[in-house]
Amino acid sequence: MSIGLAPHLFCFGLGYAAETLARRLLDEGWRISGTTRTEETLASLRVLGIEAHLFDRARPLADIDALLSDVTDLLSSVPPDAAGDPVLDTHGAAIEEAPALRWVGYLSTTGVYGDTGGALVDEHAPLAPTSQRSTRRVKAERAWLDRPWPEQVAVQVFRLAGIYGPGRSAFDHIRAGDAKRIDKPGHVSSRIHVDDVATILRASMARPERGGIYNVCDDDPAPPADVIAYACALLSVPPPPLISLEQAAKEMSAMAASFWVDNRRVDNTRIKRDLGVRLRYPDYRAGLAAILSATARVESASNS
Ligand SMILES: NC(=O)c1ccc[n+]([C@@H]2O[C@H](COP(=O)([O-])OP(=O)(O)OC[C@H]3O[C@@H](n4cnc5c(N)ncnc54)[C@H](OP(=O)(O)O)[C@@H]3O)[C@@H](O)[C@H]2O)c1
Repeated sequence: MSIGLAPHLFCFGLGYAAETLARRLLDEGWRISGTTRTEETLASLRVLGIEAHLFDRARPLADIDALLSDVTDLLSSVPPDAAGDPVLDTHGAAIEEAPALRWVGYLSTTGVYGDTGGALVDEHAPLAPTSQRSTRRVKAERAWLDRPWPEQVAVQVFRLAGIYGPGRSAFDHIRAGDAKRIDKPGHVSSRIHVDDVATILRASMARPERGGIYNVCDDDPAPPADVIAYACALLSVPPPPLISLEQAAKEMSAMAASFWVDNRRVDNTRIKRDLGVRLRYPDYRAGLAAILSATARVESASNS
């Protein structure tokens, strides 16, 4: 960042994770701008004080050089599509040339590691995607890392486990009546609370590392059925019955089914060792309890 320049984050895709980071940085006095695909989200982002614009492949940003002219940090949470990475394909050259840019973050997925049969994977593990979606991710990661970035720009890739938090957790499935406890013996998955995603991205912005790759997950890879059972216990409702994967698969989307192919434990040592991160929610028990007590506080405030 040039001396005296106010920090300015531009997010391609102001979704769940990016908006959580954006809100935190707004509180710190940052300028935030970025994109969404819908008029409805555009309006709600503007209410927060975010300079939002409509963007997708069919609607490139008209004045991209001006929009990026004082951007110091840039995050992409736009997933790849069948044609490649929508952000790089549309605005890659303008991003490379953004004059004040120093930090770029690309949100990827731990799905790039594929199925390890439950074994632990760190950032050096081989990439072995098992789905077309994850294969696209591997290509998108490389596309972000391999561009000829100027010397002052550090690009890092964040491989995210399943993101949960307020409005997107086991509680929402239980309340909607679509929570399932699926029994696949030995199967575990990793997750991360959205507030901890923001903490990790913030820590990386303070310590940019060219080409850095970070696993983003908590300390506790666990069977998904345990998460549902724990959330039910917190709500004092009976857990749904355990059903076999074969039975559950009959009603699953192709995307949901693909999550049951990969069984792996993800190592998060690097975010702690190299970014100095202390997770606020090191396991799903801590994260779910915090979501529930925040909901209770909101409900009691609105009833009083
Ligand atoms: N959620 C998870 O559990 C999870 C786990 C691992 C990795 N990831 C990946 O991590 C990233 C962030 O996750 P998230 O849950 O915060 O994502 P999210 O809430 O779905 O937000 C994604 C953002 O990208 C925008 N977007 C999506 N497709 C686009 C396209 N083709 N063209 C332009 N914009 C597009 C969305 O626009 P709109 O605002 O119009 O929707 C949204 O702003 C995503 O790439 C996601 O795939 C997510």
